Amino acid sequence: MLRLLLLLLLWLPLAQAATPPAAAVASAHPLATAAGHEILAAGGNAFDAAVAVSAALAVVEPYSSGLGGGGFWLLHRARDGHQVMVDGRERAPLAARRDLYLDAAGEVVAGLSMDGALAAAIPGEPAALVHIATHYGRLSRARSLAPAIRLAREGFEVSEHYRRMASFRLEALRASPAAARIFLKQGAVPPLGHRIRQPDLARVLERMARDGNSGFYAGATARALLAGVGAAGGIWSKQDLRDYRVVEREPLRGSYRGMHITTAAPPSSGGVALLQMLNILAGYDWAALTEADRTHLAVEAMRRAYRDRAEFLGDPDFVDVPVTRLVDPAHAARLRAGMDGAQATPSSALAGVAAAPGGNHTTHFSILDRDGNRVAATLSINYPFGSGFMPEGSGVLLNDEMDDFSAKPGVPNAYGLVGAEANAIAPGKRPLSSMTPTFIDGPDGIAILGTPGGSRIITMVLLGVLEFAAGKEPAAWVAQPRFHHQYLPDVLQFEPGALSTAVQDELTLRGHSLQQAQQPWGNMQAVWWDRKGKRVLAASDPRGEGAAEVR
Ligand code: DON
Repeated sequence: MLRLLLLLLLWLPLAQAATPPAAAVASAHPLATAAGHEILAAGGNAFDAAVAVSAALAVVEPYSSGLGGGGFWLLHRARDGHQVMVDGRERAPLAARRDLYLDAAGEVVAGLSMDGALAAAIPGEPAALVHIATHYGRLSRARSLAPAIRLAREGFEVSEHYRRMASFRLEALRASPAAARIFLKQGAVPPLGHRIRQPDLARVLERMARDGNSGFYAGATARALLAGVGAAGGIWSKQDLRDYRVVEREPLRGSYRGMHITTAAPPSSGGVALLQMLNILAGYDWAALTEADRTHLAVEAMRRAYRDRAEFLGDPDFVDVPVTRLVDPAHAARLRAGMDGAQATPSSALAGVAAAPGGNHTTHFSILDRDGNRVAATLSINYPFGSGFMPEGSGVLLNDEMDDFSAKPGVPNAYGLVGAEANAIAPGKRPLSSMTPTFIDGPDGIAILGTPGGSRIITMVLLGVLEFAAGKEPAAWVAQPRFHHQYLPDVLQFEPGALSTAVQDELTLRGHSLQQAQQPWGNMQAVWWDRKGKRVLAASDPRGEGAAEVR
């Protein structure tokens, strides 16, 4: 016995000695990637870098995420293997009721959950950053937030992408004088190279550096937020801000062909749906199939996972989500048995909820430090520039994450997603998300990945995992052409050029309704620690303007 113990003690350090030969940061903006590396170089770990990157993205990618929004930060601590999902998802205000967005006739009022103060849920990102810095970081909050504070003060340059996002949300931004002053130029989309400076936001970040949570959820920031939201018809209260808490959740875990998957737990639907799809696909001899077969089967798996999402998924603090049953391979086997290898199952033939897609707002970053700590984080304010609403004097652009609730059973949200009871609005509840930050532990190494893209996030991560399983490198995971099915609407969407004409014809013959999207979608950011090859690779989606750097 003693000898065994000694042997183990000798072996353990050897087994764990391997640390990455380099650190990597992949994010949707070069300035945010640089902020992450600045903090790593200053002695910070991946968690400090995650605070820096999140805060920098809040400044330089205001259409994607921010202090007025929320997200999920998936952490892996190398020292003891501790893994956690920091749930900084927004919560519905306490005054919210299930019929918040319905008129007297019970119909959904278009725009109410999308634009302006009533669309905004209580932000979670500030609390998440303070939590991660306090419990996982090595550096002070002031140090990790410094790059973002500097960027807010000195400004950043308007890019092509910024201009596209701003013109998409021009009306919502114009409706908010504080937002228009910062994000537009004389009421119009600013020209390329114009500098966006955010001194009010810099002050909020400084208060957070000094006072932690109360720098945002109390004092001067809270006063400005509450006054502005109230004056614009919103329903936030002092108690909403005071009571906001992040939740540390156990990530979901599953496996696929010998790889371990660690991914987002509810209130994201992403992990559940991802594991369901992988469990279904694990039943096929994937490498031996034709491209048409693989696409057909992946689409059939997507359809079934999104059907379950619509019925069962919601905030686990409010509803019983049958996670264990849904991710059980036995459930996948039942679903697989209902699949026809030659013919599409019409969504209408699957019992369920009786139902427009997303681009690249929301944001993801992946970080690996030299100790092997990892972060995969997907952050959002939902629509481009969120609700478009900034309370006067606050510097904080608010989310429209309330649209991720099911405003009425079966009525699709902005991403065409339908839902039911499980995702109905309730006071203090978190809206269901699709964000899917994910780690893959494979036999040869470790992948860190995720992407924005609304309802398509989960299928993009699925395709990324399949590429990883096929032995491809990060540049291929992020660049590969994409296709998507989400149960309703019953269409197989694909990016321009994603499917050859021959494959399209074959899928049409099998009963799929094909729809080529106008635009490509997603903005995946990935890191790979190739343990076997002793190297670190990182890649940023060529569809976006991000940067992946290994140092
Ligand atoms: O949490 C969610 O699922 C959505 N709010 C994410 C929105 C998104 O990715 C927008 N990007 N295209």
